[in-house]
Amino acid sequence: MDQFERLLQAAKQVIRAEQERLADGLPDVGKAVTTMESVALQRPAISHCPNRVGELLAAVPSPSEPHLAGLLDAVRDAAPVLQWTDPYAHEPDQQALRAGYFVTTLVGSRARTSALAFDDNASVFLTVQAPHLLYPLHSHLAPELYCAIAGTADWKKGDQPFESKPPGSWMVHPPWMSHAMQTRDEPLVALAIWTADLDSIATLD
Ligand SMILES: [Fe+2]
Repeated sequence: MDQFERLLQAAKQVIRAEQERLADGLPDVGKAVTTMESVALQRPAISHCPNRVGELLAAVPSPSEPHLAGLLDAVRDAAPVLQWTDPYAHEPDQQALRAGYFVTTLVGSRARTSALAFDDNASVFLTVQAPHLLYPLHSHLAPELYCAIAGTADWKKGDQPFESKPPGSWMVHPPWMSHAMQTRDEPLVALAIWTADLDSIATLD
């Protein structure tokens, strides 16, 4: 098993652990598990890993739950050969966000050429966010599940106040519900899953 397969396996274990723990608590989590079991491994054609990604992955505290720690280890190992993208490259006013927020696609539709694997039913992303950084309110058509893998940050959705969420927390964002993340002293590593409308684009509010 190479580092790409290990990373997909580790992500699958995190999602499956949640499916077993919460059963009906997360919408479409079964769809995500089915996707992870049937993906076609593609491997990114080009790797691109800014130095900052490696620094943040080294700095984030390892979570205590074994399946989360296993995913973080797999991400650290594979990070240099993944393609990390800047989703707000078209937003020149977002310099702080763009310098400290990075995404890589584990599973994506064929339109996402940076993806590690292809599937048309669900998309799975890994995000890395620097400490003391606000990812401002944003929204998208795609319904979304998020799992905090490493780092405790404040999460907000809709009109609710920011809430501190430790590793292992899951967040559910229905279509077009605004959400934001504010890191404190620790970086944040998170797993994001889209379960429909996979070619949506996230826009800042
Ligand atoms: Fe989102």
